[in-house]
Amino acid sequence: GSIGKDGYRHYMEKELHEHPLVIGQTLQRMIDPATRKVVLPDLPFDLATVPRAVITACGSAFYAGMVGRYWLEEIARLPVDIDVASEMRYRDPPLTTGSLGLLISQSGETADTLAALRSLREKAIHILSVLNVEHSTMARESDVMLGTVAGPEISVASTKAFTAQLTVLACLTIATARARGTLDPLREEELVAALMDLPSRAAEVFNQGNAIRKMAAIVAEARDVLYLGRGSMFPVAMEGALKLKEISYIHAEAYAAGEMKHGPISLIDRTVPIVASVPSTPLFDKTLSNLQEAKARGGRLLVFTDTQGADRVSAIAEQIVVLPRVHDFVAPILQTIPVQMLAYEVAVLKGTDVDQPRNLAKSVTVE
Ligand code: G6P
Repeated sequence: GSIGKDGYRHYMEKELHEHPLVIGQTLQRMIDPATRKVVLPDLPFDLATVPRAVITACGSAFYAGMVGRYWLEEIARLPVDIDVASEMRYRDPPLTTGSLGLLISQSGETADTLAALRSLREKAIHILSVLNVEHSTMARESDVMLGTVAGPEISVASTKAFTAQLTVLACLTIATARARGTLDPLREEELVAALMDLPSRAAEVFNQGNAIRKMAAIVAEARDVLYLGRGSMFPVAMEGALKLKEISYIHAEAYAAGEMKHGPISLIDRTVPIVASVPSTPLFDKTLSNLQEAKARGGRLLVFTDTQGADRVSAIAEQIVVLPRVHDFVAPILQTIPVQMLAYEVAVLKGTDVDQPRNLAKSVTVE
């Protein structure tokens, strides 16, 4: 292809560095700079009255959808069902006519997601797709498409497309909440401002390269890694674990931090590092006490936090990465970046084929 690596070692590294740009471009597409309001294309249905949403996707796009569920439920008060597309296509859930089907895909061609789209369509569900490839099969078969402005993504493991998906879902949440009357104008301004602030905060994450490489040196020695988070940081943990598995071939599992005591706590010892995403959101204290339980059992804590949480986290963690403090709403977008960077640095240490990991394809067009 004509796209080079611009001096980066891998496409993945180059694409990681495009996070700030891509978030900014996607916001430019969705927010009117004059009014600072989210503007959606004309919809053939009314967001104010859709009875519920069904979100489906595969891989990283599914985790973006999980963050979207937390946002749509909490901010827009919209009931959400979510499942991976390979399950959704065969589930036949009872659905109210007029519900919103929310499909998320970088390629717009993933076979399972496309099949789920078609099965939802048959049930008279409105289809809104969040896609990076705007001339894809899913784009043609959707009622409306919201584009992520991530540009071509070459690395098999998704990076910038994921944060662009989150950016679109955040904007969709604001528009849905406004339509449903669950967002007063002041709060809307606050959420938009938080989004507009993100590109520059995201650029600051790259100052943490050394701290992330120190974590990577520990993770690279492990056979198993446990990723933890709560609330919208739980899908961030899932994205981190998936990325690590995909490109470093180290086994990783993500758990909602509060659920650890119901199983994975029995695995914890010095050999299983715990990677946790703990910005100073309202779940900070709860997550920290989960981490303390892990530490008491010999767990080594590697924690992503922010400037406000840094002191309390560093008192218990072996390695920390300190990110800028951002609004709770956008914290999952910012926190994703270092988690993906960690997987990248581990893969580099392991010497794997980062851009073309074994057994994986960029777009899986067969069932
Ligand atoms: C493949 C890739 C993943 C990606 C998933 C969904 O499995 O390896 O990185 O998240 O497909 O792809 P899509 O194009 O639908 O987002």
